[in-house]
Amino acid sequence: MSAHRIAVLPGDGIGPEVCTAAQQVLESAGLDAEWVGAPVGWTEWCERGEPLPPATLELIRETRACLFGAITSKPAAEASAELVPALRDRGLTYRSPIVRLRQELGLHTCARPCRSLPGVPGAFEGVDIVVFRENSEGEYLGVEFNGLPACVANHERSVAHRNLPGGTVATSCRVVSEAACERICTGAFDFARAHGRRHVTLLEKANVLRTTGEVMVRSFRRVADRYPEIETREEHIDAACMHAVRDPARYDVVVAGNLFGDIFSDLAAGLVGGLGFAPSANTSGPRSEGGTGVFEPTHGSAPDIAGKNLANPIGCVLAGAMLAEWLGERPAAERVRTGVEHVLTKGDIRTPDMGGTASTDDMTEALARACAAHKTNDAITAPHDARGNQ
Ligand code: IPM
Ligand code: MG
Repeated sequence: MSAHRIAVLPGDGIGPEVCTAAQQVLESAGLDAEWVGAPVGWTEWCERGEPLPPATLELIRETRACLFGAITSKPAAEASAELVPALRDRGLTYRSPIVRLRQELGLHTCARPCRSLPGVPGAFEGVDIVVFRENSEGEYLGVEFNGLPACVANHERSVAHRNLPGGTVATSCRVVSEAACERICTGAFDFARAHGRRHVTLLEKANVLRTTGEVMVRSFRRVADRYPEIETREEHIDAACMHAVRDPARYDVVVAGNLFGDIFSDLAAGLVGGLGFAPSANTSGPRSEGGTGVFEPTHGSAPDIAGKNLANPIGCVLAGAMLAEWLGERPAAERVRTGVEHVLTKGDIRTPDMGGTASTDDMTEALARACAAHKTNDAITAPHDARGNQ
């Protein structure tokens, strides 16, 4: 029997290619896992009207560990038009399965490390930012209406919108709770403390989004008081985007609500060479305390290159390393990270996004070889090298 049972949801677009790559590399790094595949995504939606089948959700509830590839998300009208004819006009609405997974499994904390890697074109050197994104609420709760609900229509600031029909005006709710804000801030500060990080920055927009923003700011300050050794700063999200592209070293650990965390994590990925190198962990808590974790590359499904063996698998491979670490398999996780650095430093295998011509398979094989080589080295040096076992 394998040490770990892990659900794998490849999804669509380049998802299946990058998931296969990550599984192969993790295996070479010594992760002993039984992978249980399950459907999710665009094909499920088009053919069955349900992009997240209940059995898939059930599987993750059971394994509590999951590797997720990528899924196509399209706006409501386009999504409805792609349903098989028998399912059209049934009032089905598409909602992103990954957003639903996060909500239904209580995966409130999204950690997105963005670290400079050697030999990646277009990357700043020395970037080492970890974004903590609140995953459960904010604008992504998905509470939206056509038209204006009475409380908005009756508001003095809605005069210009009051009598517009639904379809020409719509409302979205930003729901922010103290409990969720404290939870994500605590996650960010705990991480900072555990990893010897010195600084946590909050990204908000409390000068305009006064009521909801204030809930986050107050929670951040309350949590920060419990970590006196860690420096803090509060920034407006717009200003932070400008600062980050000029001086990324300004940021260490960053915490934000759902929408701002989504935006800033893409920006931070851009600083280290693009989404091809960015992993994410969506977790409800530590594995040892019964938590569930869904690990994914931050990139989307890239349908233009899907199935062509062109995708860079490194984002998903690094998500696999986060998964291994969360499962308590630190040596395997370290081997994967060292393997990635080794291949990138050597520089002869580069996928098209890096300006090279190597295929997904070429990159996967090189990474798997590098991980396997490190495994052999560990075996030779482990008894004498205490650090290897820490
Ligand atoms: C991400 C993605 C998703 C999100 C999309 C695909 C729904 O952008 O994981 O950051 O917005 O959360
Ligand atoms: Mg995003």
